[in-house]
Amino acid sequence: MRDEASTTTTTTTPATTTPTTAKASTTTAATGATTAAAASAPLPPVRFWPVRDLTGVEFDPDLAALMREGPVTRIRLPNGEGWAWLVSRHEDVRTVTNDPRFSRRAVVGSDVTRLAPHFIPVDGAVGFEDPPDHTRLRRAVAPAFTTRGVERLRWRAQAMLDELVDGVLRDGPPADLVARVLAPFPLAVVCELMGVPAADRPAMHEWTSLILSSAEGAERSERARNAMCDYFAGQLAERRGTGGEDVVALLSAAVAGGEITEAEAVGLALLIQIGGEAVTNNTGNMAYILLTRPDLMDRLCRDPGVRATAVDELLRWIPHRNGVGLCRIATEDVTVGGREIRRGEAVYVSYLAANRDPDVFADPDGIVLDRSPNPHVAFGYGPHYCVGALLARLETELLFSAMVDRFPGMRLAVPAEELRWRPGALIRGPEGLPVVW
Ligand code: HEM
Repeated sequence: MRDEASTTTTTTTPATTTPTTAKASTTTAATGATTAAAASAPLPPVRFWPVRDLTGVEFDPDLAALMREGPVTRIRLPNGEGWAWLVSRHEDVRTVTNDPRFSRRAVVGSDVTRLAPHFIPVDGAVGFEDPPDHTRLRRAVAPAFTTRGVERLRWRAQAMLDELVDGVLRDGPPADLVARVLAPFPLAVVCELMGVPAADRPAMHEWTSLILSSAEGAERSERARNAMCDYFAGQLAERRGTGGEDVVALLSAAVAGGEITEAEAVGLALLIQIGGEAVTNNTGNMAYILLTRPDLMDRLCRDPGVRATAVDELLRWIPHRNGVGLCRIATEDVTVGGREIRRGEAVYVSYLAANRDPDVFADPDGIVLDRSPNPHVAFGYGPHYCVGALLARLETELLFSAMVDRFPGMRLAVPAEELRWRPGALIRGPEGLPVVW
């Protein structure tokens, strides 16, 4: 990678570093997109992005500083080696995530600069594959995630949610909304989707929490990851030939049919199971916003017609993750946002930043409940677009309605400043939300 020795500064420090100049590129991208201007443009300084623990739904000030610095900047994250590009504009994010010249497969085995101390997925996992293998893997589980597949779960999901809410109402206030509803509900739904028996839900939750926390250290995370892999390997073997519409049954059939390997099936099961719990943090943030913005809560109560657009607007606005997700590696020289990204260089996109792009969203930092159209990229873009987007939307809508309709007058039981937020988490969210109603 070029310019390894470039001076690094933190993002909060003004850009005092003298930018270095890239050598003129001799390679021309297949599309002819590499321009002489991009190739000779001075390289931006490498900024160290410490990815601090933030509270509430504050937009990461370091990311905001990077966005101000330019549409394409360079970053170094707390773990791994070297630096990577960061792409923050909506249009450029969609280009990078949808262009086959940026590879996920090429990331495997490289110690690229990153947030997590460890790589979560196992080899062959869907997040680290490119088409056509990526397409083959996703095809194996596609029936579970179509509108029909997700609607199959609606009735069961509503029943499980009603049971949880009934329990909270029966016990009376105060209650921790996260512990009583927002954590157990997505966990129960994703276990239903996977075909994981109710008795195994606590183990799933424990492993997911350890895998998703960078605070627990690489070793504990990896032990949890291996335990979950062993679990799914056992389930896949047990369910062989039994049929069914759940994800484990679909994966088992795909392995038996020779469409995917057992290792690929395990990797996919792991990512879907972990992804399923993303809804807890996302809806935790949503609930926090509604509890601290009575004007928004009031509008949702008075105007149920606005709820569908409100879900999308909150998905757009919520700073769902800490830092950035998985990077991609350029397999050719490509020009993005006026910068030449060379073959072999790592590129991160920030969906959070793209969702605040003023060229696409008027008043990007404001919450506009009836915003339409709303081309947000909270679920990603391109081939790696979130597998569980439809399911997440269904769960979010059900939770949203439950919060607004079944807990009239719900409010925080403690001052907002006293809430605790998950430390060292890859996905941000409140640890608890004590409420009364
Ligand atoms: C509000 C909740 C959720 C949000 C905001 C969210 C967001 C995302 C994002 C941004 C990506 C990454 C796209 C990329 O790599 O470029 C992703 C991928 C993924 N998500 Fe979600 N997600 C949510 C819920 C879920 C649920 C419920 C599941 C599973 C049941 C799930 C499973 C996955 C999987 C397996 C991937 C990897 C897809 C691939 O690499 O092809 N997610 N999600």
